[in-house]
Amino acid sequence: MGQILVTGGAGYIGAHTVKRLVQAGFETVVLDNLATGHRDFARFGDFIQGDVRDPAVLDSLFSSRTIDAVVHFAAASQVGESVRDPLFYYQNNVGGTITLLTAMRRHLVDTIVFSSTCAVYGPPFDGLLSENHPIAPLSPYARSKRMIEEILEDTARATGLKYIALRYFNAAGADPEAEVGERHMPETHLIPLVLQTALGQRGQLDILGDDYPTPDGTAIRDYVHVLDLADAHILALKHLRTGGDSGALNLGGGQGHSVLEVVTTAREVTGHSIPVRMAPRRAGDSTRLVGEAARARAELGWNPQYTDLHEIIATAWAWHQKEALTPSPR
Ligand SMILES: NC(=O)c1ccc[n+]([C@@H]2O[C@H](COP(=O)([O-])OP(=O)(O)OC[C@H]3O[C@@H](n4cnc5c(N)ncnc54)[C@H](O)[C@@H]3O)[C@@H](O)[C@H]2O)c1
Repeated sequence: MGQILVTGGAGYIGAHTVKRLVQAGFETVVLDNLATGHRDFARFGDFIQGDVRDPAVLDSLFSSRTIDAVVHFAAASQVGESVRDPLFYYQNNVGGTITLLTAMRRHLVDTIVFSSTCAVYGPPFDGLLSENHPIAPLSPYARSKRMIEEILEDTARATGLKYIALRYFNAAGADPEAEVGERHMPETHLIPLVLQTALGQRGQLDILGDDYPTPDGTAIRDYVHVLDLADAHILALKHLRTGGDSGALNLGGGQGHSVLEVVTTAREVTGHSIPVRMAPRRAGDSTRLVGEAARARAELGWNPQYTDLHEIIATAWAWHQKEALTPSPR
């Protein structure tokens, strides 16, 4: 059996997935340019520092190893940045994926699991979003992900590529052993921002919009534990390996939590007051994104283990406390 190539495996979700893949007996090689990833997160399996947009790096990697399949996390993923610099998003995310798929084709690797996002869905946002919900991405970041889904679909039709695009809702939490965790720089994700405020690393938390049409006026998201996401990638690889259909699948928990609910829960978990301040909405953000994952459960046998927001935040809190005590090399 060959290796699984994990692009972006030095990032948050990638590092957790590599840990789980190695625990499940897979051999892995991470390819990451460390643009937003961290060398100390690529601690399981092999690591190559390089860019998915570089065909020479990919050729050397695919010709020097036996690669069975690719798990493709590598992307830029900040909504606000994508609004300011859309060309970078299309170049890095869409361009990078085209270069990767082209190299896979040259080297006869025909299986890929891709990190997509619930941000591909458009309004209305009130119910549970299934895979049949209208597609209407609001930001260049989300559009880059949708374009890649379409590229995968077309390539599968033309060449027999086997793919699963996993539409994550909000990744959250950390490895309970705290070997890896969430470290985005700059941090834009809610739970780390809340916990950094609890630790006193930030004076207060800015709540980006309290005038959304939701019960408490703050935006609602569906938080899915990063290890449950990681496990879905392993199930997707097994599904494709055993002849399962290609397509896009939601990874959501089916439960929405508002920003204020997250803050209240984090106050309970941490015992800290966590001061907040109301701030304007962020361009490209939706009111409510809550997903239905019936298809991932039925087709992959996905069965998320972390269904309680307290527990998700507690794993993140353990990681952030460890980071605060022993800052890791960045
Ligand atoms: N975090 C979430 O809630 C969430 C939700 C939906 C989708 N996603 C997607 O999941 C994936 C992982 O997200 P994350 O939160 O772990 O982000 P992250 O920034 O921690 O990880 C992305 C990794 O990709 C690497 N990378 C970026 N461009 C690269 C390139 N051209 N070549 C090689 N490596 C490159 C970065 O250095 C980083 O290690 C991304 O594709 C993101 O769009 C994340």
